[in-house]
Amino acid sequence: MTHTGFAPGKLILMGEHAVVYGHPAIAMAVDRGTHVTLTDRHGATGLDVPWIDDPRLTAALHAVLPAAGVGVKIQSDLPIGRGMGSSGALAVALARAALARSGAEQTDVAVGGLALSVERIFHGNPSGIDHTVSMRAGALQYHRSPTGPVFSPIDLAPLPIVVIDSNTAGDTAKQVASVAALGPSAEGYLAQIGTLVQATIPALAEGDIDVIGQAWHENHWLLRAIGVSTPTLDAIVRAANEAGATGAKLAGAGGGGVVIALAHDPAKLIKSMNQRGWKAFT
Ligand code: PMV
Repeated sequence: MTHTGFAPGKLILMGEHAVVYGHPAIAMAVDRGTHVTLTDRHGATGLDVPWIDDPRLTAALHAVLPAAGVGVKIQSDLPIGRGMGSSGALAVALARAALARSGAEQTDVAVGGLALSVERIFHGNPSGIDHTVSMRAGALQYHRSPTGPVFSPIDLAPLPIVVIDSNTAGDTAKQVASVAALGPSAEGYLAQIGTLVQATIPALAEGDIDVIGQAWHENHWLLRAIGVSTPTLDAIVRAANEAGATGAKLAGAGGGGVVIALAHDPAKLIKSMNQRGWKAFT
């Protein structure tokens, strides 16, 4: 018997890291994602086909599947560790496949609960935004509250977002821990990010890419202030601005990963980034 699950990846448009501390963030699902196929087999549960070499993967499989009897195949067109939600998409796809296998209903509570247990293995203290947007698709405004996550769909204007890959991977758990280690000295920056996210919601709905670009610019330098950017990500942000972007920021946990940028002429921006040796796409 074979059972499958799929979930899309995501981009955090604004508010990463601050969202871990209860501030709002905005994320959207993307048109790339992860497929999981489960097949009955003899012996211990494990990968049927090799995938990434990450010791956390076995623990993740065992968090949602029986210890024996299941072969797992994972296929994804999301770059790994680039802030595009590869672990969140895997968590949701795995949860869906596991529920299908056990014949249980795929309610948000069931999928979200299993996916969160997988995200905890990869991320330690996840805000939950990654797997929630992978599960719900579309675009979401999300924050943590003392009684649990609060999220609602948000109407985004079609945005000509250019994604620029730094060609380096970041480790989300490490980045989140490094912000936690800053303690109270990070609080002011995180609160400023939250305020900026709230202030930018109307422009996101209207598609005002000049206002959003300026906000992304500020968001990036606030993320830099809490130590999650890298010289390469800063260089990409500067190069994107020189090439006509209205603004650019790292997206996701940082320490590597992708930069997102907005431009009135996205094709020109992509060409310019490619000429500088960075892979860029919309
Ligand atoms: O880099 P990603 O896709 O894992 O995004 C992490 C987002 C953070 O805000 C840094 C962490 C979280 O759990 O929200």
